[in-house]
Amino acid sequence: MEKEVMKMSRVLVIPYPGQGHINPILEFSKYLASKGLKITIITNKTVKKSAQIPLNNSIQIETISDGSEQEKKPESIEEYFKRFKREFSKNLAKFLDEPKSWDFSAKLIVYDSTMPWVLDIAHQRSLLAASFFTQSCSVSALYYYVKKGLLKFPYEDSEVCNLPFLPALEMKDLPSFSEFSDPKQIVMTHLVDQFSNLEEVDWIFFNTFDKLENEILDWMASKWSIKTVGPTFALPQKDTKLSKNHMISLFDPIYNEACTEWLNSKETSSIIYVSFGSIASLKKEQMEELAYGLLMSNWDFLWVVRASEEEKLPPNFTSLALERGCLIVNWCHQTEVLSHKAVACFMSHCGWNSTLEALTLGVPVIGMARWVDQTTNSKFIVDVWRVGVRVKPNENGIVEREEIVKCIEKVTQGDEGKEMRSNAYKLKQLANEAVEKGGTSAGNIEDFISELLCS
Ligand code: UDX
Repeated sequence: MEKEVMKMSRVLVIPYPGQGHINPILEFSKYLASKGLKITIITNKTVKKSAQIPLNNSIQIETISDGSEQEKKPESIEEYFKRFKREFSKNLAKFLDEPKSWDFSAKLIVYDSTMPWVLDIAHQRSLLAASFFTQSCSVSALYYYVKKGLLKFPYEDSEVCNLPFLPALEMKDLPSFSEFSDPKQIVMTHLVDQFSNLEEVDWIFFNTFDKLENEILDWMASKWSIKTVGPTFALPQKDTKLSKNHMISLFDPIYNEACTEWLNSKETSSIIYVSFGSIASLKKEQMEELAYGLLMSNWDFLWVVRASEEEKLPPNFTSLALERGCLIVNWCHQTEVLSHKAVACFMSHCGWNSTLEALTLGVPVIGMARWVDQTTNSKFIVDVWRVGVRVKPNENGIVEREEIVKCIEKVTQGDEGKEMRSNAYKLKQLANEAVEKGGTSAGNIEDFISELLCS
């Protein structure tokens, strides 16, 4: 089969240009490349510039404009989404129709599910199309229910949402949009639109695995042609020259070596890793409470504070933390950090990638969700998978330092902590089984390649 695959067409891959969207689709692409498929990633110039992957025969990156390089910055999210769609779709169509100086035998476009309009562009050119979901299946189901009018957004305060194959969800567990002053509900509409044309899509990929979300996945699979392909970051890359270090990082990973050196100097399960992903931002007051909570906990910690958040740290905090033997960096290689034996737990915003990475690497979580899917992911972490706790904010929405200390103690100590660690270990086994040869996700990808060959 490998030889046959080598002969066959190229797969065009279109990530949405955000870090949490690029990572899972890139890992999936690398795996397809390892199976002999040729990959062309189509994206903007900034993403291409941030690529640390050898652009060999199996993976190449082509750029088109999505309007982001224009001097005039969009004044609202609505304007940004409109411009992005207008510019990207126009330039994608042009790109596909232009003659190429290289072997352009494309048969399929895999696109981020938040760009459903790529489907028409693909089908108009007789290309097959696959939608790639970067959120959990459970959260995606909630967006579907909103589309169907079965879940009304904005939600009622007292609402408890009882939907088939999902746990009972209170308002605090539902996707949150409270950080937006968004009267037109643009972000929710954008996410609900993922379901606008799924009936016509040839394949739907979810970055999750069967045993993590089995019931809701079965339900979704009864409606659409779903294939679980995750956790994509754990898909083995041994058949290719590409590795975990071949990434596209929109942030500067200069602190990698410092992190590894620092982690190597620490005892097993002795540090707390703190990170809120690529977008979430904390209020100044919240940064202060977190900073003092971490210091009060007496644990060593590695805290990723993005450059744009740094000014919110209390004065002298960084030097105090460094004196205490802790480390603060602007960005790191997160999966490398989470795989390190020194890490005892992960204080996270519960973005879907961070959640999957923690589960797959067996690290318990302290959930400090900010918005969109993170609130629902943290509910699952605590009540469904039972691998962590969730912070409780005060009436002003601030998580106080004492609460931070309490949560750290709960996850790292006592019987409850022990149970969470044991559950995390079990999930780690299941996640890794899914991507190994014969596993559900690996098998789904094999099936997909065979189907693509026959189409
Ligand atoms: C967001 C949403 O929260 C997520 O749920 C959605 O599906 C995609 O967009 P983000 O907030 O950035 O993403 O969080 P997350 O999904 O956790 O993705 C962050 C990624 O950046 C992870 O893959 C993580 O490993 C990586 N990362 C983060 C680093 O490599 N280094 C860091 O220092 C921090």
